Amino acid sequence: MIKKIGILTSGGDAPGMNATLIGAIRTGINLGKEMYVVYDGYKGLVDGNFVRVDKNFAIDKLATGGTVIKTARLPEFKEEKVREKAVKDLKAAGIDALIVIGGDGSYVGAKKLTEMGINCIGLPGTIDNDISSTDYTIGFDTALNTVVKAIDEIGDTMSSHHRCGVVEIMGNNCPDLTTFAGIATNADFIITKDNLIDKEELFKELRAKKEANQDHVMVLVAEKLLDTDALTKEIEANTGWVARLSVLGHIQRGGVPSAMERYNSIRMGSYAVQLHNEGIGGVCVGIVKNELKYSEIEEALKLERNKHMDLYKFHDLLK
Ligand code: ADP
Ligand code: F6P
Repeated sequence: MIKKIGILTSGGDAPGMNATLIGAIRTGINLGKEMYVVYDGYKGLVDGNFVRVDKNFAIDKLATGGTVIKTARLPEFKEEKVREKAVKDLKAAGIDALIVIGGDGSYVGAKKLTEMGINCIGLPGTIDNDISSTDYTIGFDTALNTVVKAIDEIGDTMSSHHRCGVVEIMGNNCPDLTTFAGIATNADFIITKDNLIDKEELFKELRAKKEANQDHVMVLVAEKLLDTDALTKEIEANTGWVARLSVLGHIQRGGVPSAMERYNSIRMGSYAVQLHNEGIGGVCVGIVKNELKYSEIEEALKLERNKHMDLYKFHDLLK
């Protein structure tokens, strides 16, 4: 029976991580476990930077963004000897179970630690929504709200000047934030790797909107796809629209977690501890069709990303 459980956040931070910690820590203590937080992700494991916490840990941070136990990226964790040091320190402290809140990369680390005798459960923590074993990742809802608010605000000024707003949206290799925000703001164009548009076609459609005296236009582009600065200049040169670029960047990662975020984060944190209590490990938790589920990390990592192609078709119907 597992007695001591550690918890860490790894990779990019995401709003809702603190709520997840609270859900896990409170559940653990109520089930008679000793709960530990590990600072700075996997780096804290290697440095032995973990401490026992009580029921009130982070309770005042429920409604704050970021992660109170910090996070890190530690590429060296791919090396077995680095992980061996972490396992040795954990075992010396009697911690035989971990909850890892992070993305796919963090899941790989969790799977390897499980194979080395530390039972891990992965929770999907990233604003990008790029974990295929869940419909929803911790941070996505809040980031989506932040993106939508920013697009609305950019729209106000674009409208006042009859301009074209180009907005570059973070999300790493996953376009979900761009696609969902495009639907939610009724943007004119949603450009992602799954919904590419020929440049000449884009210019033609923009010229038609200008000729039809459309008030303003909004073009959303997923990050890491194309040079948005160059695209904005080309729009000006080829369409008759005065265009302005906004790159949202890390503003998307901060902020107060939304109500839905907190609700789902607390549930997932608690569920992970309940699974540990039943002796289940080497798995990751997700919310699938609105229900809490778990699956083997190995299987989860093999799943294909949902491209949401239906949403692009749906967007066409809104034009
Ligand atoms: P994310 O978890 O958000 O996908 P990363 O890909 O940066 O972010 O992974 C977070 C951390 O997980 C890495 O910095 C590293 O410490 C650990 N990690 C990633 N890949 C592996 C791997 N193949 N083996 C062991 N640990 C890994
Ligand atoms: O994975 C979260 C994310 O914010 C991505 O959307 C983005 O591409 C990346 O992390 C930015 O990473 P960094 O924190 O290293 O700037």
